[in-house]
Amino acid sequence: YVKLDSSLRSPVCCVLGHVDAGKTSILDRIRRSRVAAGEAGGITQQIAATLVSIEDIAAETVSINRSHNFTLKIPGILVIDTPGHESFSNLRTRGSTLCDVAILVVDIHSGLQMQTIESIKLLQSKRAPFVIALNKVDRVYGWKSVTNSPFKDSLKVQTEEVVQEFEKKMEAVIAELAMQQVNAVPYYKNKDFRKCPAIVPTSAVTGEGIPDLLLLLPLLSQKFLSDRITKRDAVECNVLEVKVQDGVGSTLDVLLLNGSLNRGDKIMLCTLNGAVTTKIQTILESSNMKSASGVQRIEGAIGARLICKGAEKTLAGTELHVIGPKTNEVELKKKVEAELETATSYLSSGSNGGVHVQASSLGSLEALLDFLKASDIPVGSIGIGDPNKKDVMKSSNGYKCMLLFDVHISNPLRKMAEDSGVTIIAADVIYHLCDEFRRLMRTRQM
Ligand code: GTP
Ligand code: NA
Ligand code: MG
Repeated sequence: YVKLDSSLRSPVCCVLGHVDAGKTSILDRIRRSRVAAGEAGGITQQIAATLVSIEDIAAETVSINRSHNFTLKIPGILVIDTPGHESFSNLRTRGSTLCDVAILVVDIHSGLQMQTIESIKLLQSKRAPFVIALNKVDRVYGWKSVTNSPFKDSLKVQTEEVVQEFEKKMEAVIAELAMQQVNAVPYYKNKDFRKCPAIVPTSAVTGEGIPDLLLLLPLLSQKFLSDRITKRDAVECNVLEVKVQDGVGSTLDVLLLNGSLNRGDKIMLCTLNGAVTTKIQTILESSNMKSASGVQRIEGAIGARLICKGAEKTLAGTELHVIGPKTNEVELKKKVEAELETATSYLSSGSNGGVHVQASSLGSLEALLDFLKASDIPVGSIGIGDPNKKDVMKSSNGYKCMLLFDVHISNPLRKMAEDSGVTIIAADVIYHLCDEFRRLMRTRQM
């Protein structure tokens, strides 16, 4: 029952919700990967786009689709994970801006939490259609799990008490959602998917309800978003993450929504130093990062990693522009620099005398700066990628402290820092950095 419509691109589906609701675990189930288990502190700190192919979706939904007979026409679903921790609201905002459709993950036992509500507000302001994954049903007291089963089949094998317990919990969440102006209805009772977001009870651990979720997303996309997901030729491409990789140079994780990118394309990027013109050296598909030579060409919608010279200061969240024979470069440069002004308004650091902050990517630096601001920790200078001599020198002013997030400092530099009285605090979970910093301030006052 796959009959591809070549005019349609894959919809972008963003996964939002409170910390530990199970966003990454649900995506792992969908992508058949094991990402959540390998994350530092079990916390998602970045957004990444991966394509789930329609063949995989078809295979997972065979049994549930027997009764629906729904024809899948889209080439796949491009999923974007986002972090739930409060300090990453910038990444959640970015994810929700790019998405066509969303999954809001709610832990059935915790109900609506702070970042669930923040996520709902984001989705309401973007008017993005979304479904609610009511997750962790396997932990309803007495629940008998049926691995990878459609939810209704799973519900059938539960005792009456268990069904009642489940419904009580679901009703409580529905009431909480109503207070946020969300009229949520269990999807199997939903008559108006446009007005009422559907609830899909799920378990990321046992896979129950995952087939339902996987069928519902294409269904909603094909029914309500066909205009939006009709392919367009003009390139529409966003930078999600910027990294400096050892021995490779600067890489960009991008989301190509429409159009195509080719190896060798001339592009313009919005960087901290203004508009930068460069070339795409290598294109790595996010589904196959290991093939070092990459591919010649990609077509939207897809996530990919690009290797480009001079791209290390590119601002995450900005657009990537392709320069063609007809492009007016002067006009484009103006446009990009206007984008820069909006994008850097948050980087209001510079006030000498704070800490030096160094992170692996602009996305995480941005998150870290937000968090430090909220914690009243003054920032004197910033850096991206592994620190160098200059960074250590900058740190010997002011607080004599370097906060390093997800970067590596070499032993000679560590020694140099020690010699000039600079304390290094390194962690790969943002709020651990802040805790450590507070501890340091207390010991210094003593
Ligand atoms: P952040 O990215 O940190 O916001 O969290 P997240 O929403 O991605 O949650 P994550 O997938 O990291 O899951 C958090 C914890 O809940 C992990 O220990 C998971 O194993 C567990 N978990 C997730 N989904 C389920 C579920 O359906 N059932 C049970 N029993 N545990 C779950
Ligand atoms: Na987590
Ligand atoms: Mg996660």
